[in-house]
Amino acid sequence: MKDDGRKAPGPRASDPGLTRRDAIRHGLLAGAMLVAGPPLAGLPSAEEPLKTPTPASDLEVAFHLNGKPVRVACESRVTLLDLLREGVALPGTKKGCDHGQCGACTIHVDGRRVLSCLTLAATVQGKSVTTIEGLAHGEELHPLQEAFIAHDAFQCGFCTPGQIMSAEAFLREPGGKDPAQIREGMSGNICRCGAYLGIVAAIQESRRKAVP
Ligand code: FES
Ligand code: FES
Repeated sequence: MKDDGRKAPGPRASDPGLTRRDAIRHGLLAGAMLVAGPPLAGLPSAEEPLKTPTPASDLEVAFHLNGKPVRVACESRVTLLDLLREGVALPGTKKGCDHGQCGACTIHVDGRRVLSCLTLAATVQGKSVTTIEGLAHGEELHPLQEAFIAHDAFQCGFCTPGQIMSAEAFLREPGGKDPAQIREGMSGNICRCGAYLGIVAAIQESRRKAVP
């Protein structure tokens, strides 16, 4: 979805009594609304395939995206990351290195975490793809998103969608709740701001709630 320049309504940093946590929470919700819009608005329907802005679309990929069936025309060389960001206008998935080294582009394919910059769009034919836009329910954040806010697990936020998608899958994988085990399980996701203490604490809390 393109930014039309309008700001989401809500509290301003100058509002008296506004805490940093309130501001972050509001910013996350506004961001989620901005990238997701009304549920999956603007996505191509199964009946009307969207043409990606490429000179020669030689392929049509049909798959489920955040629970909805879509068909997208694209070139066979297009990566899933580019198809998500440019083909169907879901920019929540970030392009960091574009070389499989940072984890910013992590999404789920059939429930497993995958680096979308190393995945050709053609390979998700018939599969189920989930992005950060598909994690929250409307304005109700996913518990992991709440935990990231509660533990100040980000600064600039660029790596955060990939961190959260990776953590959500990690929590469904066998693994411990010790910080060392969490660091090992999340080692493919780099944070240039160094928010690792908060990230590990947020995941540890979520793991503890899931497996008391
Ligand atoms: S953008 Fe995919 S791993 Fe860095
Ligand atoms: S919060 Fe800035 S890169 Fe992780």
